[in-house]
Amino acid sequence: MPTIKLVTEIPGPKSQAIIARREAASARGAAKLTNIAVESAVGAAVKDVDGNTLLDFAGGIGMLAVGHCPPTLVDAVKAQAEKMIHNCAIVTTSEPMVELLELLNEIAPIEGPAKTVLMNSGAEAVETAVNIARSYTGRPGIIVFEGAYHGRTNLTLTMTSKYALFKKGFAPFAPEVYRLPFPNLYRKPDAMTEDQFVDYAISQLENALISHVDPSAVAAIVIEPVQGEGGFIVTPERFLKRIRELCSEHGMLMIADEIQCGMGRTGELFAVNHYGIKPDMLTSAKSLGAGLPISAIIGKAEIMDAPHPGGLGGTYSGSPIACAGAIEAIKMINTAQFLERAKQLGERFRKHLLNIQKENEMVGDVRGLGPMLVIEFVKDRKTKEPVSAQEVVAITAAALQKGLIILRSGLYSNCIRLLPPLILTDEQIDEGMEILAEAVRVNTKQGVLG
Ligand SMILES: Cc1ncc(COP(=O)(O)O)c(C=O)c1O
Repeated sequence: MPTIKLVTEIPGPKSQAIIARREAASARGAAKLTNIAVESAVGAAVKDVDGNTLLDFAGGIGMLAVGHCPPTLVDAVKAQAEKMIHNCAIVTTSEPMVELLELLNEIAPIEGPAKTVLMNSGAEAVETAVNIARSYTGRPGIIVFEGAYHGRTNLTLTMTSKYALFKKGFAPFAPEVYRLPFPNLYRKPDAMTEDQFVDYAISQLENALISHVDPSAVAAIVIEPVQGEGGFIVTPERFLKRIRELCSEHGMLMIADEIQCGMGRTGELFAVNHYGIKPDMLTSAKSLGAGLPISAIIGKAEIMDAPHPGGLGGTYSGSPIACAGAIEAIKMINTAQFLERAKQLGERFRKHLLNIQKENEMVGDVRGLGPMLVIEFVKDRKTKEPVSAQEVVAITAAALQKGLIILRSGLYSNCIRLLPPLILTDEQIDEGMEILAEAVRVNTKQGVLG
């Protein structure tokens, strides 16, 4: 039985009416990738206000590893809402918050005793992690990488790469943020082997600690183990390990930003688990809350305790409703069965993507870790010149017309990424990927890419 059932054009008339109201009422800068107005959602199926059922491979930008509205999570949130919606953790303490803190300390790949602080969004978590690192080390500098995405507050926007889409017009940015090259293996010079390219990236990093900033002035190196917005670029293992070594050697903190790639997204609970590396701090959000606004910074206890009492927190941080939901999300994700299935999803998706690549010269690369996968479109496989963002939009728009919600990504906006719920059936994978393959085929034939 297919999941997708379309009864109107996409978008349907009711969606169009609501979108028109949204456009009139909302600041235009607030991003909007589709013109679908949603009424309800369950698992990977999204029902719009016109009665169409669509298949969701975007998952609220990777928030829904457990799918839309899993019943145990909905029950936990309802039960908490009936008891108490908000206490403000600055004023009193709720048990769900304490339970979540304990759970995160237990599961996070942190060496020795861990402590956690909760926030509301990914950007807030990254910004708070930087505050903690600065407080602990007494140093100002933060090292980040090309292609990184860390959020949209002023500090995290400074840390974010990709100027035109995210940063244009918002300067001045924060001081003491140093951006270094990132070893994107797909875009290595032809003359270098992958090993030589990683060596070169490591030497650039080491050299930056002489030419850009002294390590004694660096509080932290912040890195996404798998870049999200940057186009699902998997950090080469030797590069990540060298960061770990340099941090330990010079007293800089290693902060893994796992907001997109954590919580089962790569088939491991945390992406750093693939590498056997333990960061000093780790930021988590998105699938942690299964759609509820919650984020966490988990780190070594002595580091987390550096800021003075009262230095961290916020009115909503530790919301009992969000904590109740997050506890259920973790219980679902942190099982051998869930993670095994996530890996199987990855294998099945990868096969489909490789087939698309086989039949289409414009697919330059298929990459990722576990089910966190992307295809990158280029004008020419040799030159690797990216296709334009509009050309990829034509593909995602064609897929949407057929009922598949799917997102772009990449520094050049020339990738299509898979961030589906990780509870998909094989049939749903095949259904969605056939639509994507056809959307690529049709747009190529029409010459959009060619
Ligand atoms: C790696 C990473 N860090 C930080 C953020 C910012 O999270 P939020 O949008 O919740 O502020 C994101 C969001 O996509 C992300 O992918």
